Amino acid sequence: MLIVISNNKGGQGKTFLATLLTLFLASNPDNEDRITCCDLDRSQRNFSDSVSKLKLPIIHNLPDKKEYNRRFWIVDTPPNIREVTDVVRQAIIDADLLVVPVILSKYSVQGVNRVAETRGAKDLRIILNDWNGTLIEKKAEEYLHNEGFDIIGKLSRNRRVSRNIESLDRWDAGLQRAQAQKIISVLAGIFKS
Ligand SMILES: Nc1ncnc2c1ncn2[C@@H]1O[C@H](COP(=O)(O)OP(=O)(O)O)[C@@H](O)[C@H]1O
Ligand SMILES: [Mg+2]
Repeated sequence: MLIVISNNKGGQGKTFLATLLTLFLASNPDNEDRITCCDLDRSQRNFSDSVSKLKLPIIHNLPDKKEYNRRFWIVDTPPNIREVTDVVRQAIIDADLLVVPVILSKYSVQGVNRVAETRGAKDLRIILNDWNGTLIEKKAEEYLHNEGFDIIGKLSRNRRVSRNIESLDRWDAGLQRAQAQKIISVLAGIFKS
C-alpha cells in the first residue's frame, strides 16, 4: 500500500503526519517488517531524521511498482510539486491513499488544488491541521467540501506531541501516546474507510 502525504505548500504538517502515521502503523505487531519510510523531501530529510530511531528501512525513492502491495510504504514529499522531480509526481499519481494536511488560510486551498491537478483526480483525504474553528476556516472548509474533497479529520495544534515526535525519545511512555490519541484516531479512521 502506497501511502503518500503531500501538499504543495510547506509547513502544513506533512512530515508531522507522516511520522505519526509511521508510529501508528509500527505500533501494531502484525506490521513488523512490513513498513518502509520513503523520504522524498531529499533536501530536508526531516522524515528520515524523525523516524531514524524506529530502525525501519528508509529509502529516498519510490519502490518498484510491483512492490507496492507487498508492504506499507509511507511517503513524505517536499513542497512545490511543480518544481520537483518526476518521482514526487509519480507518488501522487500512484498513491493508494493520498493524505493532504492543510492549515486553512487564504492560499492553502490552492495547495490542495495543485495536488488534485497533479493526481488528475479529487480522491484526496484532507486533514484540516491546526484547526481553531474560526469563521475563515469554516468558510474554507465549506469551499473544499463543495468542491468535492473528502475531509477526514481536524487536528488542533498539540505542542507536546510535536516536541515528542521531533525527539521520539519518550514516545513509549504511554502518556504521550494518550496525548497523541486524537491524532491517532483520525489516522485510524483513514484505515477504516
Ligand atoms: N497538529 C500539530 N500539532 C503540533 N505541531 C504540529 C502540528 N502539525 C505540524 N506541527 C509542527 O509544525 C511544524 C511544521 O510541520 P511539518 O510537518 O514540518 O510541515 P511540512 O512537512 O508540511 O513542511 C513542525 O515543527 C511540526 O512538528
Ligand atoms: Mg516536511
